[in-house]
Amino acid sequence: MYTQPTTSTERKPWTVPMLAQAKRDGRRLAMLTAYDAGFARVMDQAGIDLVLVGDSLGMVVQGRDSTLPVVIDDIVYHTACVARGLSSALLLSDLPFQADATPGRALDAATRCLQAGAAMVKLEGAGSKLEVIRFLVEREIPVCAHLGLTPQSVLRLGGYKVQGRDERAADTLRADALAVAAAGASLLVLECVPSPLAADITRALDIPTIGIGAGPQCDGQVLVLHDVLGLASGHRRPKFVKDFLAEGGSVQGAFSAFADAVREGRFPDADHSYA
Ligand code: KIV
Repeated sequence: MYTQPTTSTERKPWTVPMLAQAKRDGRRLAMLTAYDAGFARVMDQAGIDLVLVGDSLGMVVQGRDSTLPVVIDDIVYHTACVARGLSSALLLSDLPFQADATPGRALDAATRCLQAGAAMVKLEGAGSKLEVIRFLVEREIPVCAHLGLTPQSVLRLGGYKVQGRDERAADTLRADALAVAAAGASLLVLECVPSPLAADITRALDIPTIGIGAGPQCDGQVLVLHDVLGLASGHRRPKFVKDFLAEGGSVQGAFSAFADAVREGRFPDADHSYA
């Protein structure tokens, strides 16, 4: 059985196939967002497994009201910065709004992300995105899907709300999760989904699920850098956010405390999940 030691001196660099193996071994994955080399280095030293250059950078770095204004040049710039700070963690980059609107656009954007140092790209949604996922995976670009609350859909959704609450929406989410996995996604982020539904989806898939506001039974958890450190973003603080700085005592301590809490199944608890 593969086990990944937690300190960066002993850790073997993560690869894409190791993610599915981690799920088979029942090893939970700790993921954070980062936007620069300095924080990325500390995350790597703290034993964070996966680092995402999220389009959340629009809100927490650029000070915008949504992720929609983020462009691929922003993501590529921050991906290159973060890549210089990592030695073990696997680096993912978000494809920003409409950079994945067609397979061709997505291939150009994802190629730039991989050339800047990412090992995987993340994209939101199912539907027309299934063709995009298949197209990228067939061209050797690993993909992380993202379902539930997809922030790039904020205008259609009318705000940042928990998804999959009624039976019909839950069935759609279950079907979409199976479809993105069948299209070739290697990971699935589930955002703002009731815990029992996220647990069902996690059991149904061979690929790991990474929750954010999706309960404790996902195969891993992700938080935004600013949230794990308790920094006010200027936006409403969602229920699933937890400040780990107080218990960690330092920035590296906060990242380690988050990783330990995820691996030991202590985060998220009921206070940080949706029933
Ligand atoms: O953009 C981002 O940071 C994200 C995570 C919250 C999953 O998509």
